[in-house]
Amino acid sequence: MNIKESLNKYEFLQTASDLTKEIGVEAYIVGGFVRHLLLNKEVEDIDFLVVGEVLKFTQSFANSLGVTDIVIYKNFGTAHFNYQGLNFEFVGARKESYKKSSRKPEVSEGSFYDDISRRDFTINTIAVSIGKENFGEVTDEFGGEEDIKRKLIKTPLDPKLTFDDDPLRILRAFRFASQLNFEVDKSILIAANELKNRLEIVSQERKTDEFLKILKSPKPSIGLKLLQESYVMEVIFPEVSQMIGVEQREEYHHKDVFFHTCEVVDNISKKTENIWLRLAALMHDIAKPKTKKFIEGSGWTFHGHEELGARMMKPIFKRMKLPMNKLEYIEKLVRLHLRPIALVSDEVSDSAIRRLIVAAGEDLDDLISLCRADITTKNPDKVERYLQNYEIVVKKVMEVNEKDKLRSFQSPVSGEVIMKVCNLKPSKKVGEIKIAIEEAILDGVIGNNYEEAYQYLLKIKNNFNSE
Ligand code: CTP
Repeated sequence: MNIKESLNKYEFLQTASDLTKEIGVEAYIVGGFVRHLLLNKEVEDIDFLVVGEVLKFTQSFANSLGVTDIVIYKNFGTAHFNYQGLNFEFVGARKESYKKSSRKPEVSEGSFYDDISRRDFTINTIAVSIGKENFGEVTDEFGGEEDIKRKLIKTPLDPKLTFDDDPLRILRAFRFASQLNFEVDKSILIAANELKNRLEIVSQERKTDEFLKILKSPKPSIGLKLLQESYVMEVIFPEVSQMIGVEQREEYHHKDVFFHTCEVVDNISKKTENIWLRLAALMHDIAKPKTKKFIEGSGWTFHGHEELGARMMKPIFKRMKLPMNKLEYIEKLVRLHLRPIALVSDEVSDSAIRRLIVAAGEDLDDLISLCRADITTKNPDKVERYLQNYEIVVKKVMEVNEKDKLRSFQSPVSGEVIMKVCNLKPSKKVGEIKIAIEEAILDGVIGNNYEEAYQYLLKIKNNFNSE
């Protein structure tokens, strides 16, 4: 990869280069932009590192490009603006040290080397000059290019120092490994374990953001396993960390729930970019450790783990500051994940199928995808058989759905009509009658339409005393 050549297609860099001379600063591109160029990935942000008057440089650069909307943080010596769909970030070279109790840095002006050595990973320390005399020259103080080739996440300094400066970097290490399919240096795992409790000082939003980036990556199990291996999971997601381990009693052992879950998450990630469906996959067996019981003569059971799992979601969402408007979706998928497979047998009634359709509502397709991803047996015959089973369920669902148009199920007779016919005021009883009609539809006693529901109401109304 010839970095200099690839820079030529960004004309605005020539403008920036001319300005470095005019204003008398050194300027470099660092971080994600260079990493993305070297990995042939699309660039989104550009981080400029400026030695000298960074804000003056930013202002003149923006003026030359005709950009008026600039955000400046004077105290931090940073600024940013958007241009041609890219986010331009500017930072003055600095020496940073972080207070032990906070992640807010104490910043003072520093040299190019001071700045670059206090960055997170070697792959982010490669700097490309945009100076007039040495445009495109690469400075790679810590062997970042080599680490990209070796697919390795490593810190430029002792990882304990790098992580102590900013503990969020522990999660960033695993996130980059997961996104890029890289390994992390052993020293990172050791330091991460040692300093994991320092993550306390990092805001929940930033931690959750990194965690979700792991889930968004092509193979999330890479990051999840690193979190587990370094025991960082105990700190950031104790419920997931408790899924690890297998117990043996007599001749019975159970699958390791954590590694099974990793496979399910990877499976679903091949099928969908929907981060919330991926999260549901991570959560589906979350209550197995809490519900595990050994039954003499028959082995391990996890009765009720789907219901308890669903109930565990709200406190987890609150603690991790996950978006509450996704809670119901995740609860539903966790609660229902065992239901489809129970519907395979020939004797299954239309009523059971209808109940699943109504319970899953518009998320039925996602539920079936989750169930398919849940098949992690290594026996290809079994995989084939289990997948066919879901085909059977899907076929039944489609047949019943076609017949009943149930997906957007709403009682065909409204509360108003019930009150009028039964001479009732708004009360609990109205709800009970409504439920009785819905049950009759789900049981197939009547069809899902107004006429049959109304006739049924007339038939049952005397069973409910009027007020
Ligand atoms: N950086 C750091 N420590 C952090 C965050 C950022 O050292 N906790 C440095 C890294 O050198 C990084 C640069 O600041 O490359 C820009 O940060 P950011 O935009 O967060 O990272 P990118 O590398 O651009 O990657 P991504 O956009 O995927 O986060």
